[in-house]
Amino acid sequence: MLLIGVDLGTSSVKLLLMDETGDIKKIVSREYPLSLPKPGWSEQNPEDWFAQTMDGLGELLDGADRSAVAGISFSGQMHGLVLLDENDNVIRPAILWNDGRTQEECDYLNKTIGREVISSYTANMALTGFTAPKILWVRKHEPENFAKICKIMLPKDYLAYMLSGVHCTDVSDASGMLLLDVKNRTWSKEMIELCGIREDQLAKLHESFEPVGTLKPEIAEKLGVPATVKVVAGGGDQAVGAVGTGTVAEGMCSVTLGTSGTVFIATDNFAVDADNALHMFAHASGRYHFMGCTLAAAASNKWWMDEIIRTKDYPAEQKGITKDKLGHNNVYYLPYLMGERTPINNPNARGVFAGMVMDSTREDMTQAVLEGVAFSLRDSLEIARGFGVDISRVRIGGGGSKSPLWCQIIADVLNVKVDKINTAEGGAFGAAILAAVGCGAFATVPEACEKLIKVVETTEQDAETVEAYNRKYEIYHTLYPAMKEMFNKMVAAEG
Ligand code: XUL
Repeated sequence: MLLIGVDLGTSSVKLLLMDETGDIKKIVSREYPLSLPKPGWSEQNPEDWFAQTMDGLGELLDGADRSAVAGISFSGQMHGLVLLDENDNVIRPAILWNDGRTQEECDYLNKTIGREVISSYTANMALTGFTAPKILWVRKHEPENFAKICKIMLPKDYLAYMLSGVHCTDVSDASGMLLLDVKNRTWSKEMIELCGIREDQLAKLHESFEPVGTLKPEIAEKLGVPATVKVVAGGGDQAVGAVGTGTVAEGMCSVTLGTSGTVFIATDNFAVDADNALHMFAHASGRYHFMGCTLAAAASNKWWMDEIIRTKDYPAEQKGITKDKLGHNNVYYLPYLMGERTPINNPNARGVFAGMVMDSTREDMTQAVLEGVAFSLRDSLEIARGFGVDISRVRIGGGGSKSPLWCQIIADVLNVKVDKINTAEGGAFGAAILAAVGCGAFATVPEACEKLIKVVETTEQDAETVEAYNRKYEIYHTLYPAMKEMFNKMVAAEG
C-alpha cells in the first residue's frame, strides 16, 4: 500500500510517498509566491497551491507502482481564509495565518463581545491570524466579495476539494478558525451568528484521519492512480506535525522550528487556559492539545541568512558558534518580524537586535537570532509550566531542527532533553500517517505513531549553560515592554 502526505506550507508544498511500514520512497517539493501587498498583510493564490501540488504529484509518482496508491492526506498552513463563490471559484486571494490586518475585528471580539464570552464558545480568544476576524474584515472592507461567499475553506481543504470534489475540513484545522466549539468538535452557532455567515457556508467537519471521499475520476486518470484512492481529511500543520513526531500521548510535548515555531502539548482532556495565553485546539489524534506559537522561527533565521547576510550555507555560518559560546552572547534578538502571537498577541511588534558593541561579530548576531527564537518559545513553555504541566523532554521537528546547534540552544534555553525521531519530515510524514489510518492500515493514530516512530538521538541540556541562559532570559524579557509603545508609533508611521 502506498500513501501520499501533502504538506501545504507557506513557501512551498512538500509531497511524500511512503508505504504502510513508514518506509519513505520519495519526497518532492514545489514553491509558490507569497504576496505582501501592505505591511502586515500576507496573501497567496489558492490556484497556485493546487497547480504546484499537481505538478509535484506527477514527479512524486514517476517510477512508483501507481496501482498501489491507496490514500492521500494533508498537513496545511492553518487559519488562512479561502473564499469560494457559487461556482467554487476563488473570490479573492487567501488571507494567510501571518496576516495582521484584523486588529480592529479582534478588538471587537475580545473587548466589545468579550474574551471570556468568545472563549466560552470556542476555547480560545480572537487573534489577528485566526479566520473568523478575517471574515469580519472582508464583511466590512469588501462587501461585494462577502456577498459572493458560498464556501469558506481552509488552505489544505481547498486542495482536498480540488482533488475529491468534496467540501470538507477537519477539527484540528477548524480549531484555528475561531468558529469551532472545540470541546464538542462542532461548529459554534454563536460564532457563526457573530460573523454574519450561515453554517452551510462552512465545510463538513471530520476527524483528521477520516476519509472524506475518493479522487475525482479525471484527477485519478491524470495521475495514473486507481479511482479508489481515498482522500483523508488531514489537519492543521501543527497537529499533523505532532503526529509526525509521535506527540500524541497525554503530556507529550513537541517543539517545532518551522516558518513559525510552536510549543505543542498533547492532552487527552479538554481544558482551557484561563488567560487564553495558550491555544486549546482539537488534535489530529482524536484528542486535544495546547499550543503556543511564535510567528517567525525558522523564518527569522531564513530572513537573517538569505536577505541580510546573503548566504545559503547555514551550517558554515553556525560553525564558529561553539558550545562555550552558548549562554555568553551579549547580543539579543526579538523575533517579531511578523508581529507576535504567544504571549503578547501584538501584530504591531517588530524585530529588534539589541546589545551590540564595536566588537560584536556576525556570528554573535547569528547566534542571537537562534537564541531569540528559543527565548520566545520559552515564553510559551513557561505558561504551560505555570499551570502545572511537567515538561522535561520535547520532540523536535521543523526545518530548523536540522541544525545541531539550534537543538542544543533549545535544550539549554528550555532546560529540556531534546529528542529527534527517525524522520525529520514532520508534516508530510504525519499526513501520510493520517492517510494510512484512513485506509485502515492502523486502527488509530496513536497506534500508527507507536509502530512507525522511534527516538534516534537525544540532545541533553548542560546545567551551567541552563543557568547562564536563565539570566539572559530575564534580560530578553525586559526588551518587549520597554519597546511596546515605540512599536505602536513605528507602525503608525509606516508608509
Ligand atoms: C499555527 C500557525 C502556523 C501556520 C503556518 O497556529 O499559525 O503554524 O499554520 O505554519
